[in-house]
Amino acid sequence: MKTLFIATGNAHKIEEICDMLQETVRLLSQRDTSVRFEIEETGATFQENALIKSATWAGYFASDLCNMGVTHVLADDSGLEVDCLKGAPGVHSARFASMDNLRSGNSTDAENNAKLIRCLAEQPQTRWTARFRCILALTPVLPQESIATMAAATEFFDGICEGQIRIKAGGTDGFGYDPLFIPEGYEQTFAELGREVKNRISHRARALNQLSARLKD
Ligand code: IMP
Repeated sequence: MKTLFIATGNAHKIEEICDMLQETVRLLSQRDTSVRFEIEETGATFQENALIKSATWAGYFASDLCNMGVTHVLADDSGLEVDCLKGAPGVHSARFASMDNLRSGNSTDAENNAKLIRCLAEQPQTRWTARFRCILALTPVLPQESIATMAAATEFFDGICEGQIRIKAGGTDGFGYDPLFIPEGYEQTFAELGREVKNRISHRARALNQLSARLKD
């Protein structure tokens, strides 16, 4: 059986991924190891950032010292694109607010949401259309091989969820921009709709469906 290591410290992402994949593969995550890497997400795209994360961890597991039976590393890079903000915050979704004062590292969800509301308040009161985008990178762990070889063998799966922003936050479920995002076909935010609905229609759910089909091959 394949063993996937989920290369993220985001507990919400881990939960969503486990909900959808736990019957298909054995799953490990950063909760199962004390090892941590300071990975700089310097890519210009979600795909590049997902690959930086999955290849770094695959390099670690491919070394002789630390094999926990991991056969593949899974990384998720995702974010929100708002049309009237020309696609921002995009790849900068996690550090949208801290970029303003040149702080390094991620901002809190509350800081990011407050900045998004400030930015949209300056825009005309039309529909604030937006989408969540998720790219998953699946890198095989190939003992004795270089990181470059494993990176080249990486497969990608993507998912998009269209919707719009409501600048009055609502709901307590989920994370990130969930209290501000209403998916297409619904009247409530992801944070109000809750985990069961989000796990059916979200950007991450769509990417995970493709990945799950691939894993069952
Ligand atoms: P990453 O961990 O570098 O991929 O950053 C992802 C950031 O995008 C998160 O910190 C959130 O701000 C946002 N994001 C990604 N997926 C979601 C989601 O499902 N709901 C809400 N916000 C999300």
